[in-house]
Amino acid sequence: MLRIGIIGVGGLGTRHAQYVVDTGKGRPVAFADTEVAKAEAAAEEHGGNAYGDFAQMLEREQLDAVFVCTPAQVRVGPIQAIAEHKLPFFCEKPPAATMADARACIDAIEQAGIINSIGFMYRWSQVTDRMRELLDGRSIGSCMIRGVWACAFWEIPGYYFIQEKSGGPIGDQGVHLIDAARYMMQDEITAVHAFGSNTIIPKTDAFTVEDTISTNLQFRSGAIGTYLHSWSHRGWVWEIDCIGEDFRLVWDLSERNRLWGTVDGEEVSFEATDDCYITEVNGFLDAVAGGGQSMIRSSFADAARTLATTLKINESVTCGKPLEVEAP
Ligand SMILES: NC(=O)c1ccc[n+]([C@@H]2O[C@H](COP(=O)([O-])OP(=O)(O)OC[C@H]3O[C@@H](n4cnc5c(N)ncnc54)[C@H](O)[C@@H]3O)[C@@H](O)[C@H]2O)c1
Repeated sequence: MLRIGIIGVGGLGTRHAQYVVDTGKGRPVAFADTEVAKAEAAAEEHGGNAYGDFAQMLEREQLDAVFVCTPAQVRVGPIQAIAEHKLPFFCEKPPAATMADARACIDAIEQAGIINSIGFMYRWSQVTDRMRELLDGRSIGSCMIRGVWACAFWEIPGYYFIQEKSGGPIGDQGVHLIDAARYMMQDEITAVHAFGSNTIIPKTDAFTVEDTISTNLQFRSGAIGTYLHSWSHRGWVWEIDCIGEDFRLVWDLSERNRLWGTVDGEEVSFEATDDCYITEVNGFLDAVAGGGQSMIRSSFADAARTLATTLKINESVTCGKPLEVEAP
């Protein structure tokens, strides 16, 4: 059983502690949160020790791996400390809040040579596996991609509605779909042009983000796409639609987790049965137990490219111009 430490014991830290237990491969044994009562509550539930300071936790505990589940702005401190202790780590998405922070983390990871995994759980979904299999060998450059994610996010209390804290609809949530598109198509987004609106939820001091963002995407292969993300729809729409000369594949997570469409005239219909949050934790623990970094589907450096894309989309909303996405 791998001994796991968790830094940041809020919503996702609490969930990951349980996922670790669910895999049967690890045990959460130490918890650190600046709001120490949260760490104490988790320590009481799972057993183990609570800390108000992650540096103290890393000094005192014998850990096999660490989960970083702090807000995106709190990455450099924990990751540099984890790297000093040469420990493998899993970190929730997005990898960081800024490219400067992302680069500082990449330096620390490369110097320490440690296993690292970012929580882009859709990469671990059975649908993603099937989609990559079906797209393999096809001319992605002649593909069109359409993404939509719309939900009534405004009803959930939290930090989401302050741009600097969440990165808005694209930085906080759309980052998942942008990352899934990169991974499925095995392609890079090289340019974006985005527009934002607040037609339904006006901006106030408590809501400083756009409620809806639409962006055009240019891929390295020549493929092009559009992506619409909204926090102002009372429902749940989640789709990635890949259309090529002889195929159409729709990943539809709106009600169930399924893939449908046609390839060379043959019907495709597939429904996933897994929980990709648990699959990603399972995969990380397998990597730590001996499988190594090659088992990881989203390294920090790769996730930083997704981050670079979402930051450019937000910048494009502000400046109104198409922008190129540079490598981290
Ligand atoms: N993959 C997903 O589906 C998903 C869903 C929600 C959130 N997230 C991501 O997970 C991360 C955490 O989000 P959340 O919703 O759990 O937030 P949260 O606010 O519920 O939890 C964050 C915790 O980190 C603690 N913290 C802050 N600074 C700290 C520090 N220096 N040391 C130790 N603890 C510190 C806070 O006190 C808080 O308890 C974010 O990056 C978010 O984007 C991912």
